[in-house]
Amino acid sequence: MGVRMRLTTVDTVYEERSWLFTVRDQHGEKEEVILVPCTDAVAGSRDDAGGDGGGSEDVGSTGTGSAGETTSSEGDGGGTAAGAGNGTAVEAWVNQCTHEFQRLDRGMGAAMRDGQIICPKHGSMFDACSGYCDNGEAADTTLPSVEVAVDGGDVYLTDDEVTFLHQGGIDEGDDGDGGPSSTSHLSL
Ligand code: FES
Repeated sequence: MGVRMRLTTVDTVYEERSWLFTVRDQHGEKEEVILVPCTDAVAGSRDDAGGDGGGSEDVGSTGTGSAGETTSSEGDGGGTAAGAGNGTAVEAWVNQCTHEFQRLDRGMGAAMRDGQIICPKHGSMFDACSGYCDNGEAADTTLPSVEVAVDGGDVYLTDDEVTFLHQGGIDEGDDGDGGPSSTSHLSL
């Protein structure tokens, strides 16, 4: 387990529908990731397409009756948030359609309907909980996942293979940061 990086709160993800941030992957490349609400973790529609096993223990959110129901959002103490991976109400996916190079969240929040993320280009829909797509151009593909965990109402990045850079898209980080591209008076 690597360092846990706090990203935002679960409430924020639910309010904004998607929460965009940028990471550096293990190859040193910048990559955009979106956090999305996973509201039907009980649906049992996981096809195990990912095969990575990360958190496939779908917690019956009604069965265990543990904290985490969104109705009483005021931090109800509930210290024992179901262990990492179990019952995670937020999932993280690489912000790119599997069909073509198309951002799902273009900086204004991802389009979502019925617990699915809608690709703005050709309209394929990806399950927000499993990342799997069973329709349209991107059918039979799964979005690459990024590991996150929910603890006490906060969302943490727990993926060892990526490093958090900043909130927002890749471009948002370059601007105003005095990046080499914006003020490039190279004198070599
Ligand atoms: S680019 Fe997303 S479905 Fe074609």
